[in-house]
Amino acid sequence: MTLRTWTIREVLEWTTSDFAAREIATPRLDAELLVAKALGIDRVGLYLDLNRPLVDDERVAIRELVSRRRDREPVAYILGYKDFYGRRFSVSSSVLIPRPDTETLVEHALTCIPEDAPFRVIDVGTGSGAIALTLAAERPLATVTGTDVSEDALAVAARNAEQLGLGDRVRFERVNLVNESSEYDLVVSNPPYVTGAEIAELEPEVRDHEPTLALEGGEDGLDVVRALLSAAAGVTHAGAQMLVEVGVGQAASALTLAERSGAWTPIGTYPDLNRIERVVHLRRT
Ligand SMILES: C[S@@+](CC[C@H](N)C(=O)[O-])C[C@H]1O[C@@H](n2cnc3c(N)ncnc32)[C@H](O)[C@@H]1O
Repeated sequence: MTLRTWTIREVLEWTTSDFAAREIATPRLDAELLVAKALGIDRVGLYLDLNRPLVDDERVAIRELVSRRRDREPVAYILGYKDFYGRRFSVSSSVLIPRPDTETLVEHALTCIPEDAPFRVIDVGTGSGAIALTLAAERPLATVTGTDVSEDALAVAARNAEQLGLGDRVRFERVNLVNESSEYDLVVSNPPYVTGAEIAELEPEVRDHEPTLALEGGEDGLDVVRALLSAAAGVTHAGAQMLVEVGVGQAASALTLAERSGAWTPIGTYPDLNRIERVVHLRRT
């Protein structure tokens, strides 16, 4: 008996309709990325060879990646990387996948960091190191510390520092929020901020695959922000600044918490590309 042969075109079409039937949001794109990865080529390479029949080993490799995606594992974890602010970051299931929303925080942080003078920055809850390493890459005179409670996340961040050639200016520390013996000019953080009620409503890609430690922010989503307002006050001087990413509808409450803390004066809030007030900007009183 001869088994049916499949061409690249056919496998892309089959996978796309399978993903679409499973309500995966971008079925064709995901199919192309995963088939290209399994074949060790890029997406353009697929189109140069659409009518090529696949050999058995290639079909096995494709089937394995497609099956992971059918289980709603995020494409970034399957590929092993995600692009953020123009750079490529390794990711694993130990870290949150860097989001475009967080580029809003990076853009505003860059306006706070001088280009021509040393400056000390701390990124609390650094995960893959996306924020810390982007700031260091964009501001060569800045020294940046990234903290996290997850040892596995810090290993991913250290690998990214190495890959981006930033190991000498970015230091990673395993600590709860901040190490109290240091002082900084700017605190940035994208803390876990999903509320208890929202967790159940998340897409399976996030809820079932991204680390809970990177997502859950307690009943109102602001538990880590509360703790950070107080901890960051202990490692900053008067006039130092803080930029914190928050969830939908949380910006006003975060500003109120900051004002009540007595340590921080609100400067403003900034929207992301979807016009959601995403970043809270504070100055140390
Ligand atoms: C939302 S993720 C942000 C990851 C990365 N900064 C980004 O923007 O892509 C939050 C990170 O905070 C870390 N985290 C949670 N609680 C923490 C704490 N008390 N101290 C330090 N890091 C914490 C988690 O392990 C996770 O890596």
